[in-house]
Amino acid sequence: MPSERIGGRELHYEDSGGDGIPLVLLHGFPLRGALWDPQVEALGGRFRIIVPDLPGFGRSEGPEEPERWRVGAYAEVVVELLDRLEIEEAVVGGLSMGGYVAFSLLRRYPTRVLGLVLADTQPGADSIEARRTREAQQEQVRAEGIAALRETLYQRLLAPKNLGDPMLREKVLGLMEHPPAAYLAALEAMKHRPDSTPELSRIQAPTLIVVGEDDVITPPAIAKAMERSIPGARLVVLEGAGHLSNLEEPAAFNEALATFLGEF
Ligand code: MLT
Repeated sequence: MPSERIGGRELHYEDSGGDGIPLVLLHGFPLRGALWDPQVEALGGRFRIIVPDLPGFGRSEGPEEPERWRVGAYAEVVVELLDRLEIEEAVVGGLSMGGYVAFSLLRRYPTRVLGLVLADTQPGADSIEARRTREAQQEQVRAEGIAALRETLYQRLLAPKNLGDPMLREKVLGLMEHPPAAYLAALEAMKHRPDSTPELSRIQAPTLIVVGEDDVITPPAIAKAMERSIPGARLVVLEGAGHLSNLEEPAAFNEALATFLGEF
C-alpha cells in the first residue's frame, strides 16, 4: 500500500493504476479503504481506482486534534492526494461518511469532480438528537475505548440476513479496528457537517445513487429524495443489502458502477 505525506501525516492508499477513468472511493465510518476491495478486485483493471484510508483509519495517521476535525479536512486531504497523483479530474464515490466527504469535495472543488457516486449516504446535517448521540459515543470511546461502540455500530451496518454471517462479521469488525482518535475525529467531523440539501439541485456532475434496500442508517427513502433533487441522477436499490451495500451485494453494486463509469 503506497503512502504520501499529506498535511504532516502519512496517508495510505491503493491505486489500481492504468489509463482508465479515475475513480476515487471514500469509505464510511468507522471503516477503511479495504471496504472497497470487491470493487478494486472486479473493476481495478478497467478503471483507475484510488482508495485512501482516510486520516486516522486503517494505516493512515490520524488528526492530532480530533476535537477540531471536520469533514472538509478529509476532502482537502483527498484533493491533495489527487494532486500528488497528477489526477486533475476524477469520479468521486463515497459510502455514507465517504459521501459527506464527496459533498464537501464537490462544494470546494467542483471542477475536479467528473461524476459522483453516492452510496448509502445522505445530504442532510445531523439533527440535535444525532449530535447528542455522537457526543455520548465520544464519551464512551474516551472512557472505555472502541470495543463496545464498535459492536453497537456493527449491529446497524448490515442487512438482518447478513448479521449472522460469521465471515462477514469477522471482515467488517476487522475493518472497524482503529485507534480511538480516528473515531473521535470522525464523530466530531460528522457532528459539524453542513447541510448539503440546498446544493443538490445545482449538481451538474452525472450522479449514480446506490442504496441497500435494508439500509437502516440511510434508508432508501433518503436515496429516492436525492434522486428527485439531483438533475439526471440515477438510483439503484440493491435487494438484500444493508448499509454496506458494496460489500453485501458486490456483484450488483459492481454492475451498477461499471455501467455508470462506462458512460464517461
Ligand atoms: C457511516 O457509515 O459512515 C456512518 O454510519 C455515517 C453516520 O453515522 O452518519
